[in-house]
Amino acid sequence: MAAPSRNLLSWEEAHVKAEKLVSQMSIDQKAGLATGQGWETTLCVGQTYGSTNPDFPSLCLQDGPAGIRWADNVTASVSGINVAASWDKDLIYKRGEYMGDEFYLKGIHMALGPSFDIMRSPRGGRGWEAFGEDPYLQGVAASLTISGIQEQGVIAVPKHYILNNQETNRKNSSSDIDKRTLHEVYVWPYARAIEAGLGGVMCSYNQINGTWTCEHEYVLTTVLKEELNFQGLIMSDWGAQMSNEPSANAGLDMTMPGDIVMGDGYSWWGSNLTKAVEEGRVPEERVTDMAQRIAAAYYKMRQDEGFPDIGVNGWDRESAPVRIHPDMDKHIQVTRDIGAASVVLLQNNDNTLPLSSDVKKIALIGSDAGPIPQGLNGCEDQSCGAGHLAMGWGSGTVDFPYLITPADGITARAGDGVEVVTHFDDWDLEKAKEIAADADVVFVFGMADSGEEYISVDGNVGDRKNMSLWHNGDNLIEAVAEASDNVVVVINAVGSVLMPWIDNESIKSVVWPGLAGQESGNALADVLFGDVNPSGRLPYTIAVNEEDYGATIDPNFNVVYHEKLEVGYKHFDAHDIEPLFAFGHGLSYSSFEYGKLKVKAKKDKASATVEVTNVGDVDGAEVAQAYLGFPESAGAPPKNLRGFEKVYLKAGKKSKVTFEFETIDLSYWNEESETWVVPEGEFTLYVGASSRDIRETATFTL
Ligand code: BGC
Repeated sequence: MAAPSRNLLSWEEAHVKAEKLVSQMSIDQKAGLATGQGWETTLCVGQTYGSTNPDFPSLCLQDGPAGIRWADNVTASVSGINVAASWDKDLIYKRGEYMGDEFYLKGIHMALGPSFDIMRSPRGGRGWEAFGEDPYLQGVAASLTISGIQEQGVIAVPKHYILNNQETNRKNSSSDIDKRTLHEVYVWPYARAIEAGLGGVMCSYNQINGTWTCEHEYVLTTVLKEELNFQGLIMSDWGAQMSNEPSANAGLDMTMPGDIVMGDGYSWWGSNLTKAVEEGRVPEERVTDMAQRIAAAYYKMRQDEGFPDIGVNGWDRESAPVRIHPDMDKHIQVTRDIGAASVVLLQNNDNTLPLSSDVKKIALIGSDAGPIPQGLNGCEDQSCGAGHLAMGWGSGTVDFPYLITPADGITARAGDGVEVVTHFDDWDLEKAKEIAADADVVFVFGMADSGEEYISVDGNVGDRKNMSLWHNGDNLIEAVAEASDNVVVVINAVGSVLMPWIDNESIKSVVWPGLAGQESGNALADVLFGDVNPSGRLPYTIAVNEEDYGATIDPNFNVVYHEKLEVGYKHFDAHDIEPLFAFGHGLSYSSFEYGKLKVKAKKDKASATVEVTNVGDVDGAEVAQAYLGFPESAGAPPKNLRGFEKVYLKAGKKSKVTFEFETIDLSYWNEESETWVVPEGEFTLYVGASSRDIRETATFTL
């Protein structure tokens, strides 16, 4: 059963229905809606208590941001970081849509994703699950993904709210931040998702300025529910609730998975919440509000109109019913398309790519080009850390139904007449050189992996322990570049890596396919052979040295967000540090010119148009990017992404691109008034092909 494409109820309509239901409930019943049944006691990763008389179902909650965890017949999508690298609004929506469809088919009421964890430090273990280092890009990806999922009738639950930007000490450290940075950087994507009708939010394990996030009244109630008028529910991360009445009174609405410590069978809530109400420690209205918010999200997505039975069982996979989506091939096609659209071509000297028809012998070198040695899904939550990398590890993973490796994809596309030789050994450098010397073009593959803290892979406890390629990657690349002068480096990585070999002249091209999911090798081949002209752009900065970044993993209890607004490229801009590859960078097989930038200011809004021309001789897409420089009085970073459009242009054709700047885009968070304020003075608009490749500039005043 495919999800019907639905017009969702408005929050007003949903709350009217929810109020009617909840008004008939006892305190116990309301507390049941707010309480999970316990870890590994139900079919889903989390499941609430249902109610009879009045009737309300037990809601099924399942990970995660890239598709359904622990299930069969699902699509293992590209990761969040590739969603961002595509900068493709249409494909981002389509991915959300098919994911929502798959969650719906399996009877999952709430999808635990997407992730909005800003990539504050390049080594943060879970950055790859989310949409990169820039809040605006996160916000666009957030709102499109949320709409895609929820319009299929599934409640989206983005996470981890908030300031869970590293895995080191994630369950006890305190992220210390000022209110302006909190709003402008970290709350921003949630705000955009709430505008798109967001149903749920998951609060994180960490503390904020010394208070546990899931009992932090300011972030839960003041910011989310009051400032942003969030009408849905806030649930805890798994075991992130630390108290009964403090969390209830601060604004938490649902405890997950229900136990105090996962699997202990005790709960802060359930009958303890009822008791807290009876003893006057929690007002009954607060519990009514919890239940009403949960029921309202359910009604808003129209889940009362014939939702499928639960069709997953994470603990006993074979017992789950077999349900195969009728449009599976379309989901696969979207995965391949967004995979190809998110391949970032970092460097392409001598137009080495796309491969010309003169190439008769291709060498593929490096374990990342080949199969996973432990077998497909051979390690807990994709923690093999070996073979082709198409996903990081942790709860944000999906089992691969199959995995097209680069070797599979390239061999299939090369066809007859082109010989493909492979060498999946990173350590036998002599053999690698021998093979490289004998090929027309050599692809050398490297990888760098990371994930969630509960699994440690090769000494990487979630966060990466360094920014180098894994498995002898740098030496392998150097060795290959000694043997051949026609080398293409391909890196599958969770984020930025150091490239000590980048100035080697034998290395002609550097290709960055990220984490592309089950269709990885096909998506890569589409670009290498020129079937798809690359149009991915970096959603984070690649630095020359690790010290160039504004923030790193902090091993201390107090993780101070000292860089404030200068996250990612904003730090490089503010301190005049030259990146190796800038945020927003990515090449095409064609080239594009910009001209005729015009801005129109209208009260507290503005719009701009720019002409983009494909001046090359192949068709392709350009990502026109708009960065704002605020008047000095705002105290903002030099450049702030505030618009982008991916435009597909036939060779020789041009198109007018429009950017609309809403009031929020032109505002900063004023700490004195604690509101968003449009600053007085002159704005500068920078339009170009990356944060460091500005082609047109204009100024305006509101
Ligand atoms: C993770 C969440 C996940 C939850 C349920 C937690 O450990 O931080 O992202 O949704 O487990 O699996």
